Amino acid sequence: MFEVHAEAYDRFVGRYSPQLAAALCDFAGIENGRRALDVGAGPGALTAELSKRVGAANVVAVEPSEPFAHACRARVPGVEVVEAGAEAIPLPNDAFDATLSQLVLNFLPDARPALREMARVTRAGGVIAACVWDYSGEMEMLRAFWDSAHEVSPESAAQHDEATMRLGREGELAQLWQDSGLLRIRSTPLRVRGRYGNFEDLWASFLGGVGPAGAFTVSLPQDDQAALCAALARRLGAGEEPFELSARAWAVAGTVP
Ligand SMILES: C[S@@+](CC[C@H](N)C(=O)[O-])C[C@H]1O[C@@H](n2cnc3c(N)ncnc32)[C@H](O)[C@@H]1O
Repeated sequence: MFEVHAEAYDRFVGRYSPQLAAALCDFAGIENGRRALDVGAGPGALTAELSKRVGAANVVAVEPSEPFAHACRARVPGVEVVEAGAEAIPLPNDAFDATLSQLVLNFLPDARPALREMARVTRAGGVIAACVWDYSGEMEMLRAFWDSAHEVSPESAAQHDEATMRLGREGELAQLWQDSGLLRIRSTPLRVRGRYGNFEDLWASFLGGVGPAGAFTVSLPQDDQAALCAALARRLGAGEEPFELSARAWAVAGTVP
């Protein structure tokens, strides 16, 4: 799902990532003078925001997908990008003042080992913050997509709908933070907007095969793909004109004891 070209990701969820990164950094209180880690960096939207705020030399990114790690290196010069997963971060203890992860934890089979690693590499008193889309509610693009998919291919959509993933509901991230022993836990919704030149611009973004929605789209037979395209256009009332969709993510931050 994420072994894809960075440009395909940019057209898809990457369209929302820079705005979301700025909102997550504001929420986590990322200021100059901090050493910061981005876990599951993708092609580097949050890495770039961190680098802007604290300087490239103070930022490290961890990302398991080779094409994304490569893109992140190219896009955010001076940042160390390590090809690794969140469950085994090959970095020393207490190396960071802040460890952030944007739109990643819901994809892990179990986020607890990842959070333990994030806490290990963050100094006592440092902050750990993350966010996950509100898949079942106000992430308009993905919600409209899956609602349309249920019309066209109900059984398969029920299996793959991202609303069924863990950590996508209000309060779930905060519960994970609490269970992991983090302190001073704060939660907030983050809202951003995605801009599209026309409906074709949105539809093409699914054909890159990125993430569960993209993978679902490209797995469909041609007839079902066409039906999904029509159902989504109808649902959004979108055509030749530019339009925007809003997206909400649930964010949490806590302090390492
Ligand atoms: C939706 S993308 C988010 C990318 C980026 N953080 C952003 O906001 O644009 C999910 C990312 O999680 C990464 N990922 C998947 N499994 C991971 C794991 N076990 N550890 C760390 N990252 C992982 C994927 O490769 C992908 O880059």
